[in-house]
Amino acid sequence: MENKIAIVTGSNKGIGFEIVKELCKRGVGVVYLTARDIQRGQKAVQELNREGYFPKFHQLEVNNKQSVKNFADYLKKNYNEIDILINNAGVINEDFYKTSYEDSKYIIDINYNGILLSEEYIYPIIKDNGRIINISSDCGHISNLKNKYWIERLTKDNLQRDDINDFLSWFLQSVKNNTIDYNDFVEDKILSYRISKIAVCALTRIQQKEIGKNISINSLHPGFVKTNMTKGCGNFTLDEAADTPVYLALDIEQSVKGKYFWFDKTEQDWTDPNLKLYCVFDTIENQLQGPK
Ligand SMILES: NC(=O)c1ccc[n+]([C@@H]2O[C@H](COP(=O)([O-])OP(=O)(O)OC[C@H]3O[C@@H](n4cnc5c(N)ncnc54)[C@H](OP(=O)(O)O)[C@@H]3O)[C@@H](O)[C@H]2O)c1
Repeated sequence: MENKIAIVTGSNKGIGFEIVKELCKRGVGVVYLTARDIQRGQKAVQELNREGYFPKFHQLEVNNKQSVKNFADYLKKNYNEIDILINNAGVINEDFYKTSYEDSKYIIDINYNGILLSEEYIYPIIKDNGRIINISSDCGHISNLKNKYWIERLTKDNLQRDDINDFLSWFLQSVKNNTIDYNDFVEDKILSYRISKIAVCALTRIQQKEIGKNISINSLHPGFVKTNMTKGCGNFTLDEAADTPVYLALDIEQSVKGKYFWFDKTEQDWTDPNLKLYCVFDTIENQLQGPK
């Protein structure tokens, strides 16, 4: 464990911060807490230092090409290769009830395109037998969709990048042109977030097929967790939420590849729309509104 090098994106707070802490606790030799904002990142490191954990820090804005490239160059120069990358950084709809074009583009840019940049610059320095974890959501399960065409296209065995690109363009165009058909989705709340996370799960399957070097790439839903993203609502604490990502990073068999995991460490079939693993917004709404 002490020889391993791990990176967690968007880890100045929330689930990412807790994953960094758990990796330190488990004795991973070098753990990088990264943040888009240097001050927020350094403050988070200081907080962990006070608790007796000593992660390193590097600036990383996942949707900024130069920032991702700088970090990858730095890692290559200092370590040559790394073992674990947890793509955790993410954002949700500004307004949970509204789907606007600018907000949708921003969400997709960070949640999905951010992982593409990470693939371009950081994946090439991941070691043989390394591990990548893409933090998705229950919002990312295929059962969030009701549109049969997209369900079939995204779950087919020979899924291609163009299938995901077309899916995202179809969604963004319909938002832009105000032609969105809400019957295509299981619910209309936090819709762009759902689309971005569905794309992340689909991308995980493609990346796994392409990566080679016996690297594993899995995606997961960490549970409904009390963080800034959920405005403090949730059924899980941060340390409960870090459990499955850390399990996938350190404990599961290396042979488990390209799968989708639930917060209880069970593997779920991402391609089965009948599983009804979608996010039920009522759960969030009830907690947002507080006791009646
Ligand atoms: N909480 C839940 O119930 C839940 C459920 C399912 C999935 N998830 C997923 O879990 C992951 C972590 O979410 P969370 O609940 O911990 O949210 P959070 O508390 O809002 O933390 C999100 C983190 O991502 C960072 N981030 C956002 N955009 C970034 C960018 N462009 N570059 C680098 N870092 C960026 C944020 O940094 P700043 O402080 O600078 O904004 C923050 O550190 C996300 O992928 C989320 O979608 C969460």
